[in-house]
Amino acid sequence: MKHIVLFASGSGTNVENIVRYFEGHQTISVSCVFTNKRDAYVLDRCNALGIPAFFFNGHAFKDKSLLLQFLSCLQPDLIVLAGFLRKIPAEMVATFPEKIINIHPALLPKYGGKGMYGKHVHKAVKADKDTESGITVHYVNDRYDEGAIIKQVRVGISSSDSADDIGRKVQQLEHLHFPQIIEAVLSEN
Ligand code: GAR
Repeated sequence: MKHIVLFASGSGTNVENIVRYFEGHQTISVSCVFTNKRDAYVLDRCNALGIPAFFFNGHAFKDKSLLLQFLSCLQPDLIVLAGFLRKIPAEMVATFPEKIINIHPALLPKYGGKGMYGKHVHKAVKADKDTESGITVHYVNDRYDEGAIIKQVRVGISSSDSADDIGRKVQQLEHLHFPQIIEAVLSEN
């Protein structure tokens, strides 16, 4: 069995979707979820899903942290950032080379970097009058949104789409594709 650990900071629709996708899966299981937000709705979702979840504060997240030791004990085959909004410390990247992946709600390298998350991304796409957006799943390195791209999926945008409409289209792509991308990454490891 391969084990994945999820990190999330917010609502956790992707976490819920991933947990449901791998329920009863023959070779992959979700061990637990970590969040850096004590009031994140993802914690309620984990309660309802019956999945262990842990909140950690900023002190636990620094280089050479207890969180890192805890993660090392868990020996995850893959760490999946599913709406996690903090930069991963260099020490953690070095401890889990090519074992941390992130989903970004745009077609990187456009609309990446610090401050580019969630609705901010969709507003920027709308402001630039782009005719497409999408999702990018990539390996995590020690720079925001710059690790090697694993897969991108595109969706068309019409001029009448609001930033919220773009967000909904992108979220649909995330829910449709992210679990299969995780599965594919694990089958290659
Ligand atoms: C997702 O759209 C994800 O791509 C994005 O946060 C959202 C979390 O939604 N991640 C980033 O912006 C990372 N830079 P969720 O909590 O409903 O899964």
